[in-house]
Amino acid sequence: MSQVHRITLKVKRYDPDTKRTWVQNYELEAGRILRFTDVFRKINNELDPTLAWNSSCEHAQCGSCAVNVNGKPLLACELLVENAIKHFGSTTFRIEPLTIAPVVRDLIVDFDKAYERVNKVKPYIIDPSPRPAGESEYRISPRQLERYVEATRCINCFCCAEACISSHKRFLGPNAVMASIVRLMDPREQAIKERLELLYSEQGVYRCHTSMACSFVCPKEIDVAHFIALAKANRFRSETKR
Ligand code: SF4
Ligand code: SF4
Ligand code: FES
Repeated sequence: MSQVHRITLKVKRYDPDTKRTWVQNYELEAGRILRFTDVFRKINNELDPTLAWNSSCEHAQCGSCAVNVNGKPLLACELLVENAIKHFGSTTFRIEPLTIAPVVRDLIVDFDKAYERVNKVKPYIIDPSPRPAGESEYRISPRQLERYVEATRCINCFCCAEACISSHKRFLGPNAVMASIVRLMDPREQAIKERLELLYSEQGVYRCHTSMACSFVCPKEIDVAHFIALAKANRFRSETKR
């Protein structure tokens, strides 16, 4: 395989000052193991310093670089040029910002706004169980942990929410409901009623159409739809009775 590819990026841009939206083409040579965040940086350095995009960790850990590439939400810092060409069968890529929150500029969306839905479910133990008498810590058995540890890998990149076929406005979204489900599966959580009320509310899990799109796009390979299915069946804890 060639070490360098001639690629074209068709980037959806937005200028908040003029409110103008347009598609800008960038043609450039890119090494086969450059990541798309490197490609954006190369555009800034060599072609256009005004292109705005987001990244932080550049190691698939923070979720800030999520964009749509040819309609698929993914982490730009994880996508290598050679893998993108293989996956999409093309050297031309349509790059668009996520649609789950308002666009601030070009590929940058207002993550504070997106996080409002996650914050709504209180993504932490609301009411922790007291530690067992004489214990210095609360222990969770490997068997209990095994049921939900996968969901704790979520980095809130919102790729699943972007791919979700349910209403972005009416549904809390897959990552937000999963953040609550994982706490319900955690034996330390006692705020069961509060959590269930929101999960089974009009914005909750019954808005999910079981399309599995969330599981398909998750860059952390979390089977998000599986956790939502457990919630629909009220199967949060197998070993403890509530
Ligand atoms: S579940 Fe996966 S796709 Fe959804 S926000 Fe978490 S890491 Fe991203
Ligand atoms: S399975 Fe449910 S939550 Fe996941 S993408 Fe489909 S509709 Fe959305
Ligand atoms: S920059 Fe952190 S996940 Fe891509």
